[in-house]
Amino acid sequence: MTADGDTKKQRAAAAALELVADADLIGVGTGSTVNLFIDALAQLPHRPRQAVSSSQASSARLAAAGIEVRDLNEVSDLGLYVDGADEATAARQLIKGGGGALTREKIIAAAARHFVCIVDDTKLVATLGRFPLPVEVIPMARTLVSRELAARGGRPLWRAGVVTDNGNHILDVHGLAIADPVALERELNQITGVVTVGLFAVRPADLLIVGTARGVETR
Ligand code: A5P
Repeated sequence: MTADGDTKKQRAAAAALELVADADLIGVGTGSTVNLFIDALAQLPHRPRQAVSSSQASSARLAAAGIEVRDLNEVSDLGLYVDGADEATAARQLIKGGGGALTREKIIAAAARHFVCIVDDTKLVATLGRFPLPVEVIPMARTLVSRELAARGGRPLWRAGVVTDNGNHILDVHGLAIADPVALERELNQITGVVTVGLFAVRPADLLIVGTARGVETR
């Protein structure tokens, strides 16, 4: 990644930090942009004491920053969730899962009152689908789901060697025309063996913070 890309991610992460205010507990996603957010959190004099996390990698980073990682089941109210994305539209619909953490990310997004997505401006698209759509599947259903995805015009590629934190496999689906993200998310969710579709359209982000060469823009 270029220094410029890093700077844009850094700007988006810093802007999200301002939303943390005096929260005692926050939700934290996964990826290089979120890593910058966690590192910035660690510098806050009054950082949140606790977090729920979407991956083992983020949990380790949060713990190293002195932030206790809680089980979502023990949390009754999650105000803020901050996460990155692989693609985002102006309507705040997303493709996520490039880092393989899509299932836990979708669970935390569903649980959170406020879902803030932080991206650099290279992630902005008019129509989702340039980035291959990650789909987490039960391992024994991988071929079955691949056939179903191919029947819908996609070219699923098994992310060989990757096992998710939930013990599952990932198919990266190339060539899907995602004209209606909500409808496609619902349809793919119904394929037997699919655990999670990396489309975040039924529950989009509430706020998109975009790091640019000039500063940040919000949608
Ligand atoms: C993790 O599974 C993904 O959903 C990430 O949120 C996404 O890949 C963004 O990653 P970067 O911040 O590293 O671009």
